[in-house]
Amino acid sequence: MRRFSVDLRRSGKTIAFVPTMGFLHQGHLSLMEKGKSLADRLVVSLFVNPTQFGPNEDLAAYPMDEARDLELTQKAGVDAVFIPDVQHIYPSGYQTVVSLKFLSGHLCGLSRPGHFDGVATVVTKLLGIVRPHLAVFGEKDFQQLAIIRQMVKDLEMDIDIVGAPIVREADGLAMSSRNMYLTGDQRQQATCLFQALTASRQLVKNGESSVEAITRTAASTISAVPETTIDYITICDPQTLEDVSFVSGPVLMAMAVKVGKPRLIDNMMLTP
Ligand code: PAJ
Repeated sequence: MRRFSVDLRRSGKTIAFVPTMGFLHQGHLSLMEKGKSLADRLVVSLFVNPTQFGPNEDLAAYPMDEARDLELTQKAGVDAVFIPDVQHIYPSGYQTVVSLKFLSGHLCGLSRPGHFDGVATVVTKLLGIVRPHLAVFGEKDFQQLAIIRQMVKDLEMDIDIVGAPIVREADGLAMSSRNMYLTGDQRQQATCLFQALTASRQLVKNGESSVEAITRTAASTISAVPETTIDYITICDPQTLEDVSFVSGPVLMAMAVKVGKPRLIDNMMLTP
């Protein structure tokens, strides 16, 4: 992988990179399209990173279909697909962890301790191997994108981090590899995240500024749907991810909700 990139760089070509955990969908493909439009060559990685899963999470059950992913990447015009083994990324004796002091302590970081250390560490390794000029990440994982931007800046990585908007199903559900775990009923119920977000956006447009009132309405919309368990619903500063109490400018509304077993996340900017 490294030789491929070093040769490209020597010949003056630019490299875009899209890291993924595979089981590709339209959301991933939109990042690839963006990457392709911004550089001469596009590299995609498929790697289900064990260190970003907690002990009671779905690592063992994470969906995989390498043959299908390779077909999709080929159709998307990807120049190289990097599929490392766990032993290559974390050989015996491996000991370094990349950890962010503040951005990891909010939203999903609270319910998934260690998750963002795993993400920051594997992305550092992947960037070090692939050596791209730019890397594309989805706003679906808003906190992840914020963390990678900060990390690249803090560690002087000299890589452009490009964000890409959330790709949704026709009914608003944000695309995710985890949606395939939803049963037919749960798939219907899962639209409540998007509905709560769009209703909140409307409330803010209509002049509501109390975060307490907005989140209370969103929580009751979601709780009314069978099989839902709210992990968090938060309105925060999109830069620091710190909670705000009043909406006085653009804010991020982010949520994690279990629909049956699958834990789904979604977010939207709210602008008064
Ligand atoms: P994964 O969940 O496979 O997502 C790979 C990339 O696709 C991420 O940047 C994610 O934000 C983006 N993505 C997923 N669903 C999307 C959607 N509906 N619209 C737009 N973009 C979407 O995120 C990871 O993998 C891992 O944490 C990784 C960065 C690869 C590190 O292991």
